[in-house]
Amino acid sequence: SGELYTLYRGLMFPKETHCAQSLKFAQEFTFKDDDVAVAVYPKSGTTWMQEILPLVLNGGDLTPIQTIPNWDRVPWLEEKRLSVVVDKLESPRGLVTHFPYHLMPPSFHTSKAKVIYLMRNPKDVVVSSYHFHKMAEFLETPATLDEFMEKFLQGRVMFGKWTDHVKSWRGTDLGDRIMYITYEEMVQDLPAALGRISDFLGRNLSEEATRKIAEHCSFNAMKNNRMSNFSLVPKKYMNSDTSPFLRKGIAGDWENHFSPEQLVSFTSVIRKEMEGESFSLPWSM
Ligand code: PPS
Repeated sequence: SGELYTLYRGLMFPKETHCAQSLKFAQEFTFKDDDVAVAVYPKSGTTWMQEILPLVLNGGDLTPIQTIPNWDRVPWLEEKRLSVVVDKLESPRGLVTHFPYHLMPPSFHTSKAKVIYLMRNPKDVVVSSYHFHKMAEFLETPATLDEFMEKFLQGRVMFGKWTDHVKSWRGTDLGDRIMYITYEEMVQDLPAALGRISDFLGRNLSEEATRKIAEHCSFNAMKNNRMSNFSLVPKKYMNSDTSPFLRKGIAGDWENHFSPEQLVSFTSVIRKEMEGESFSLPWSM
């Protein structure tokens, strides 16, 4: 796996999209006060937010989601692509990051940039990630879900342990610069979630605009949007015949994958790692 991943500050990053220079570029990145970052562990709704954020920020003008691929529209802070597109981004800029909190660059801390922390039930994260590792040629192909689960729980996957990520972002002292939201909340009631996001960002979305954004950010709309469904990526990097990037888009798919034994061992590890934390997970574990 040394061929596929680069190590940086103890974490694994896929070499296809990250390198020493891109990680340095991220550390030297200058956040502006009106930037909005979405911090999210992989497979927890990153692409969804790359669709939502520009529309909430511009009041529902569809131009960005119809003309710019998601990775250039709301780029990843840590990926190689950022240095290529950074000068083309219009303020207020949206960025996504899979960094744990302690890897955020100094300028993030001195700016007033806001951050939305998005999290998803780890049981569904591991299932989504398992399918993604099978279709993404630049990631280590898992043999079985059992084997992948083991690696996931040990943090021997890109961006490390899910529990470390969540703990790092829950433990910030960012006050009203941070907002927490879950994937499940967005699945259950997207218009309500859009309302929370727009309030946090100081936008006043009309009911009409909210409805329009929710419609264009639905799973099916995004699956049909070539600027967001990763169909622009050559099959040799992402093989959608193995599994589409926008795969199921539901809460609770773990029930179709976990054996009773896997459920017990998975939840017991997560529960143990969350012991003594001052916040509790919003899903039964
Ligand atoms: S990545 O590779 O980290 O950027 O992946 P990420 O985008 O974070 O996560 C991919 C999962 O998010 C689902 N998704 C959605 N679900 C519901 N509604 C919408 N609009 C939506 N957009 C993306 C996507 O289907 C992946 O989840 P699974 O469970 O695999 O379907």
